[in-house]
Amino acid sequence: MDLLISASVLNADLADLKNELLRTQEAGVDMIHLDVMDGSFTKSITFGDYVVGKLRPSSSLPFDTHLMVFNPTHLIPLFAKAGSDIITIHAESRCDIKECLKMINHLNVKAGLSVSPETDVEKIFPYLPLCDMVLIMSVQPGAGGQRFMPDALKRIKTVRKEADRLGLDLDIEVDGGINVETAPLIFEAGANIAVVGSYLFTADNMKEAVESIRRGS
Ligand code: DX5
Ligand code: ZN
Repeated sequence: MDLLISASVLNADLADLKNELLRTQEAGVDMIHLDVMDGSFTKSITFGDYVVGKLRPSSSLPFDTHLMVFNPTHLIPLFAKAGSDIITIHAESRCDIKECLKMINHLNVKAGLSVSPETDVEKIFPYLPLCDMVLIMSVQPGAGGQRFMPDALKRIKTVRKEADRLGLDLDIEVDGGINVETAPLIFEAGANIAVVGSYLFTADNMKEAVESIRRGS
């Protein structure tokens, strides 16, 4: 299994997202990570299903939608319709997690469940059979450019061990502070998808930045 790269566009030029998606795709990433924030679960608000739907024709890469919102239930069908290939909800959100994961599956979209750093990772164990992917936050949700929290490595190992025990073919994605130094660490711990934001968007040469991450894994 290789480490896949999901480019978080949070730190892209949000006023020119269409071209940023093209540039990102040309740099060789595997997916586009779309950080949806509601101004309540997180302080800021980013963008919603209207913007995602308008961006859909500009990229042939899978859309990996990360819902950092308290109430994802009614949003799930909207983001599915907008063209998301993966929809991730948070274990800390105020919804019926089982029902939401089932709803995502019924819409033929891959279902992800994310855990913030302060939540015991064991809390998501009962939901693993309903998940295609677990997203382990290695920073506090809400902003790009933060430092990777090393505790995430232990959490990745714990989830991978439980998925193996259950015989699940689970994707483990890690989000926050991923760069050329931290990518090999998460891969070694058992993750197979890296969300990479500011490391790509602040690079002089995005293609080289993508390749440097791939070389390390
Ligand atoms: C943080 C977001 C991340 C963020 C990652 O709440 O979920 O996807 O954009 O950005 P970097 O890679 O800069 O930590
Ligand atoms: Zn994210």
